[in-house]
Amino acid sequence: MAGVTNYPFRRICAAFGAGLPISEMITARALVEGREKTFKLARFGPDEAIHSLQLYGTRAEDISEAIRILKDEAKIDHFDLNFGCPVRKVTRKGGGAALPARPELLRRIVREAVLSADEIPLTIKFRLGIDEDCLYFLEAGRIAEEEGCAAVTLHARTAAQLYDGRADWERIAELKAALHIPVIGNGDIWTAEDALEMLHQCRCDGVAIGRGCLGRPWLFREIAAALEGKEIPPPPDFGEMAAIMMEHARSLVEWFGEHPGMLNFRKHAGWYTRAFPRSAALRRELMLITCLEDLERVLSRVDPSTPYPESAHLVRRGKRSGRQKVVLPEGHPARSSGPGS
Ligand SMILES: Cc1cc2nc3c(=O)[nH]c(=O)nc-3n(C[C@H](O)[C@H](O)[C@H](O)COP(=O)(O)O)c2cc1C
Repeated sequence: MAGVTNYPFRRICAAFGAGLPISEMITARALVEGREKTFKLARFGPDEAIHSLQLYGTRAEDISEAIRILKDEAKIDHFDLNFGCPVRKVTRKGGGAALPARPELLRRIVREAVLSADEIPLTIKFRLGIDEDCLYFLEAGRIAEEEGCAAVTLHARTAAQLYDGRADWERIAELKAALHIPVIGNGDIWTAEDALEMLHQCRCDGVAIGRGCLGRPWLFREIAAALEGKEIPPPPDFGEMAAIMMEHARSLVEWFGEHPGMLNFRKHAGWYTRAFPRSAALRRELMLITCLEDLERVLSRVDPSTPYPESAHLVRRGKRSGRQKVVLPEGHPARSSGPGS
């Protein structure tokens, strides 16, 4: 997740049992142009067992070149290509979730990326389609399979839906039934029970977690226990959560430096504490923290034995609700499909 799954957060998720923490989305073109900031985003930590990196691009040449550069510069164990981004400035240029509506372009990008990745497994992630009038997930899945992808991830919403409404898990089941390569289901996993239910209902091979782990990285511990048939461990109380927050912030400061690290942590601080009753004042203070001492001082004012609220998973986080009219470039095949035009 862009701006979220940097090394410090991946490290925490992995410690809680996340199987494959994936990097933030890295723009292929920026790597090809040698932008230092992008190379920094693509770094992995010293204790990361698996180096899994997500690339974004609209041109086969850029993506293949970025893969070659990364392979030369670092140890990469898995590449993922993101064709699910619904952001206006991305779809306007035909990228992200707009791209799979051009199957021949998708095929060329995936074919060349798989060739460049060589023995490194490459997966792709996509949505259901542009909108209900332009659904492409089955075709995108078939292309991925035919061109040698190791697996696909389906975020079961359209680009028009953004993050709104329920993800349509039936379509994950449909994709799973249509393909032989593994299908990872994505959308609305908020609890361990959700993960089990998606695996059962869709017969998919894995689940990808998005917003559910924002401020709740222990969700992975809960899912891991559920998958092993063990009792689901309780969430932390405020005191334990404060220790996790301190660890997270400390790691961000070490990785990025004090100022950028604390700035990045502010949004996490908001997600961690959101569900607590009457926590608005606490969050206002957390939005002003500039150093680890500030954070410790603010957190120490709350009774550490305060239990984690039961309904925390229902508090939506990460993205605003609402749908959009997907903006597409001139001549895009989905421009005639109604609401997406
Ligand atoms: C803050 C934020 C950043 C995201 N960035 C990315 C990204 O860089 N790459 C990607 O494939 N998905 C990204 N997503 C989408 C999630 O990976 C996921 O597909 C989506 O949130 C649906 O899953 P959920 O219902 O479990 O949240 C992002 C989501 C959020 C909330």
